[in-house]
Amino acid sequence: MEKYQHYINGKWTDGSSKETISVVNPANGKDIGQVVCAKSDDVNAAVEAALNSYKSRVLVDMLPMERAKLMRSIANELRAVSKEGGKLLCHENGKLLANAEYEFVDGANYFDYYSGMTDKLEGNTIPVNNKVVDYTLLEPYGVSGHIIPWNFPISMLARSLACAFAAGNSTVIKTAELTPLATASFFAKAIDNAGVPPGLINVICGHGNEAGANLTAHKDVAQITFTGSVATGKTILHAAADRAVPAVVELGGKSAAIVYPDADLDKVVTSAKAGIFGQAGQICSAMSRVVAHKSIKNELVEKLANLASTIKVGPGDVEGSELTPVISEEQVQKVENYSRSGQQAGAEAVAGGKRVEGDGYFFEATVFDNVKPDMTIAQEEIFGPVLSVLEYDEPEEAIEIANGTEFGLAGGVFTRDLDKATETAGKLEAGQIYVNSWFTGSVATPFGGYKQSGYSREKGQEAIKSYLQVKNVGIQL
Ligand code: NAI
Ligand code: MG
Repeated sequence: MEKYQHYINGKWTDGSSKETISVVNPANGKDIGQVVCAKSDDVNAAVEAALNSYKSRVLVDMLPMERAKLMRSIANELRAVSKEGGKLLCHENGKLLANAEYEFVDGANYFDYYSGMTDKLEGNTIPVNNKVVDYTLLEPYGVSGHIIPWNFPISMLARSLACAFAAGNSTVIKTAELTPLATASFFAKAIDNAGVPPGLINVICGHGNEAGANLTAHKDVAQITFTGSVATGKTILHAAADRAVPAVVELGGKSAAIVYPDADLDKVVTSAKAGIFGQAGQICSAMSRVVAHKSIKNELVEKLANLASTIKVGPGDVEGSELTPVISEEQVQKVENYSRSGQQAGAEAVAGGKRVEGDGYFFEATVFDNVKPDMTIAQEEIFGPVLSVLEYDEPEEAIEIANGTEFGLAGGVFTRDLDKATETAGKLEAGQIYVNSWFTGSVATPFGGYKQSGYSREKGQEAIKSYLQVKNVGIQL
């Protein structure tokens, strides 16, 4: 079985330890590879490589146009490995093959997009008085540490890395222990093939509470980016606070779609297919709640139940599969426990509700009707293919229910009335609002949370601010 290595200072290496982590295909529970496991010496080596490359100014002093060209080469190399890399990613994550391949294309899009910002990192001139010229410079932080989740290992990594790189930072990436393979191999190969100077981008593999914690605590890591659970996000913010360094945190969600009586219900169903059953519901901005007006709720529930019960369950690499497994045995049990808690609390599973018998970590596409706002399945991030349907009567009630969780990552409105859509978009406490179709964004649209879903923004021009610090220069004439 193949052993996968860290990529440090432009070389693949076993690192300091003989310990490895077994990576499993969630579709059948079988081992597909071993990855080396970073200890503090390896984290130190990666950070040292990043710091040396930063101090060499190889990226900082590169002409903006040259930095852009290098980023476009990375994009091309990512597209070139999308087939092979996608296959490995499909096997380690469980997702649909087409979606796994697309992660590399999406990653390429981030590098293309941010390549266009390398020559637009403009400061200001500030009037002080006629004897002073005052201006600002936007400068990178130095070493940027990125902690990556397992649900979109390549997309999430490229999202923060392309931005950090465009701004001139050197990076150390800690892959998720459940999905390190495609990153340590194909992604790192794309970086290497593009001719990125050694040390500018380093990839380490290891456990969160060890390699991840060592990275966030490292004195030479000047900025941190994290995507994942709220609990781990808070741990990372504490680590950042201990050293007074900034952190970008994109955390969980419990996002609600409000369905008004005039909505096109088929659009809600199409959105549910991608929004909660796509990727087996393991998406931070999943459409995990539907808040439907009582006049159309039963009709909608029937359509959603029909979708859920006809969706084709199967491995990501089998033609025709629609619902793929969740990531691990632990995760499928967690989803099962949530489902049980919903039933015990009085919600009705009108479709699904149980684990799929047989190999792998499949969970049925599940729709809960009669969910009340205070139930656990209406409040907590399940991270599985489980949709909770809640009912409202007055419009204010719908907003109150939608805003009534600790999260605020995304929200949705389904209506044919544009005034109602914009008014509702204004009242929802969430970082991105989808009207009449879930997931309307692109690499160019700012993404991030309100409330416990985090702060700062990824994607778009907005995100680059997190990777730059402002220097003011005053010249006495
Ligand atoms: P997690 O948030 O603990 O892990 C995400 C990343 O953080 C991984 O790379 C992990 O190695 C790293 N990490 C963990 N502890 C760390 C620490 N102390 N210091 C530095 N890095 C650390 O998520 P986990 O345990 O994989 O999944 C648990 C739940 O989190 C899921 O069931 C889901 O509800 C949620 N989750 C949400 C995601 C989102 O995009 N909103 C993504 C992944 C998980
Ligand atoms: Mg964890």
